[in-house]
Amino acid sequence: MPPVISILEHSGMARPITSIADLRAIAKRRVPRMFYDYCDSGSWTESTYRENESDFVPIKLRQRVAVDMRDRTLETTMAGETVSMPVAIAPTGLTGMQHADGEIHGARAAEKAGIPFTLSTMSICSIEDIAENTSKPFWFQLYVMRDREFVSNLIRRAKAARCSALVLTLDLQILGQRHKDIVNGLSTPPRMTVANIINLATKPRWCLNMLRTNRRTFRNIAGHAKGVTDLRSLSSWTAEQFDPALSWDDVKWIKEQWGGKLILKGILDAEDAEKAVASGADALIVSNHGGRQLDGAVSSISALPGIVDSVGDRIEVLMDGGIRSGQDVLKAVALGAKGVFIGRSFLYGLGAGGEAGVTACLDIIRKELDITMAFCGLRDIKDVDSRIIVRR
Ligand SMILES: Cc1cc2nc3c(=O)[nH]c(=O)nc-3n(C[C@H](O)[C@H](O)[C@H](O)COP(=O)(O)O)c2cc1C
Repeated sequence: MPPVISILEHSGMARPITSIADLRAIAKRRVPRMFYDYCDSGSWTESTYRENESDFVPIKLRQRVAVDMRDRTLETTMAGETVSMPVAIAPTGLTGMQHADGEIHGARAAEKAGIPFTLSTMSICSIEDIAENTSKPFWFQLYVMRDREFVSNLIRRAKAARCSALVLTLDLQILGQRHKDIVNGLSTPPRMTVANIINLATKPRWCLNMLRTNRRTFRNIAGHAKGVTDLRSLSSWTAEQFDPALSWDDVKWIKEQWGGKLILKGILDAEDAEKAVASGADALIVSNHGGRQLDGAVSSISALPGIVDSVGDRIEVLMDGGIRSGQDVLKAVALGAKGVFIGRSFLYGLGAGGEAGVTACLDIIRKELDITMAFCGLRDIKDVDSRIIVRR
């Protein structure tokens, strides 16, 4: 498997990469501390962040034997698009700081793997950068700003770039506090403090790649939004620009402006899921923003079955949060998700080895998913349902 080997050659690791945890360990060494910490953290006590992962563990799969396991397929659809497996790349801010041109690397790897890539509003590479460097449509994630002209303009740009779905994030109009970002003084590009210079000196590969690109700020925003004073500080910019008054009327307005496939992200409660159905959206994502917003919220995987029960026959239900393996993907699909998004697993791959690292991440998840589905006695991901889960 070439991508894994090429990362391995430079990783200094004495053993092959076998899991997402291996990619995480390499990313931790290669990515400057403030950006690694930005990725690998949740809000306040991080309890929801931890439970997103740990709540997968008690879910047990039924092992079946003597079943024909030949000719398996993971192909299905997400938001009406054919995908080679039920996995999409989640929108993540500042991705171009995990690795230079990170969003382009991620989008290319996703395109080659036959899965959707979602570009964040708060990305380093712009909508236009991704369109120029890929050949298939990608998805665009929208944050709603106070300046509605800027929002309209972002939607227009996503249309012009032929984005095939709009992912509207509803759970971040104000920012959950992440202690590490405050301690590290998170900014992009990093301020040249003594601590940062010392840390950057230990990341020569990251620095070299960063010097080779001119994409080092929020390129969806810089030069497009009025009155932006301090783009370097994500938290102060969010506090100034994001609209805390966002309502379901705004969702309606955005749906009209966009006119295409709309996916609502950040639904964790059955009452909000009903409102998502009433809004006419095509799909919703059960999500708590990777445990980065409401600390103390339930994990995504534990919220999933209730939401599927209440609205699953009227809207496509997707989920994200805590997916670190193909086994996790299978469990989420078995509990009713049509597909999942990966945030940190993707970022660990990216930080470890750019496009090759993301490809390694997707290869690992695909193989785990395929083999695990076979162990459960199934050959087609479309046949997976709660019957493969052990009832207690
Ligand atoms: C570093 C980081 C940045 C993120 N930035 C965004 C963002 O810009 N927009 C958004 O809708 N969600 C954002 N998210 C949330 C992800 O889209 C997704 O909900 C979450 O990462 C899923 O959990 P997981 O990381 O455990 O897979 C971010 C998550 C991380 C880890």
